[in-house]
Amino acid sequence: MSAAPVAIVTGGAQGLGAAIAVTLLKKDYKVCVADIKEVEGKGFVDEQQKIFGTGKIIFSVCDVAKEADYTRTFELTLETFKKVDLLVNNAGIIFEQDPKTTIDVNLMGPIIGCQMAIKYMGRSNGGDGGIVINTASILGFLPFSKLPAYCASKHGVIGLTRCYGHPSHYEKEEILFMALCPSFVKTNILEDIKSKSLETGLDVTRRELLSPEYVSEGILKLLKDKTNGSTLLVTVKKGYQYISYQEEFKDITLE
Ligand SMILES: NC(=O)c1ccc[n+]([C@@H]2O[C@H](COP(=O)([O-])OP(=O)(O)OC[C@H]3O[C@@H](n4cnc5c(N)ncnc54)[C@H](O)[C@@H]3O)[C@@H](O)[C@H]2O)c1
Repeated sequence: MSAAPVAIVTGGAQGLGAAIAVTLLKKDYKVCVADIKEVEGKGFVDEQQKIFGTGKIIFSVCDVAKEADYTRTFELTLETFKKVDLLVNNAGIIFEQDPKTTIDVNLMGPIIGCQMAIKYMGRSNGGDGGIVINTASILGFLPFSKLPAYCASKHGVIGLTRCYGHPSHYEKEEILFMALCPSFVKTNILEDIKSKSLETGLDVTRRELLSPEYVSEGILKLLKDKTNGSTLLVTVKKGYQYISYQEEFKDITLE
């Protein structure tokens, strides 16, 4: 069995996912990049193989809205690297003209991903446990009037992470669930943002954008701190900052 930790990164062909893959490779992880974009994904993996070696990174074509694609990705990773320690549910889109697809990719993707992690990594299924990191967003905490479906999906990812991050799941599965929640990052998702938002007029060009590399370092902070159910906000002004529940809810216990 390989001693190096093994990660699957969805949406890893470009942008933040690609930066996360490189950050993990630099920390001696073996990485499976899972993405719907086959040409870009294979191209990125070829480039990284030249830098880190052929045995370190593979590509799996995967639509995160499809359970069968996740299954194939986990099976390929297990076949190649013999284990999975970390799943980064990172794939995401902005497409307000099609709220259903937005929810399918941004929220159903991570939901299926969490279920798959339990199936393949969970103690109750004979696995060794591990870690799941979901890429949410600052828009998982705050409203943004021009991106309601996107915002709803990211609020959902925060809820998903906090539910699976409850001790009752950890006791059974020994999987930690955490979320990375960046503000605006300089990636392709912001290209043509006006045409993908609810109304024209959303302009991100004057905002100070985070670099994907800086945000990807947040993954290392989460992996180091290992706080189950935690949600790490990343902003230009304040850097990395854990966000917990609103004070008003502190005394209300449902479980
Ligand atoms: N860029 C930002 O401002 C920002 C801010 C906060 C959160 N995020 C989140 O970061 C994550 C990564 O986005 P990014 O900024 O790198 O954008 P990006 O568009 O550069 O990358 C997104 C990746 O996801 C892939 N993808 C899209 N649909 C998919 C599907 N159905 N199955 C598998 N892969 C799919 C794309 O092919 C692409 O490689 C997303 O979840 C996004 O919502 C981005």
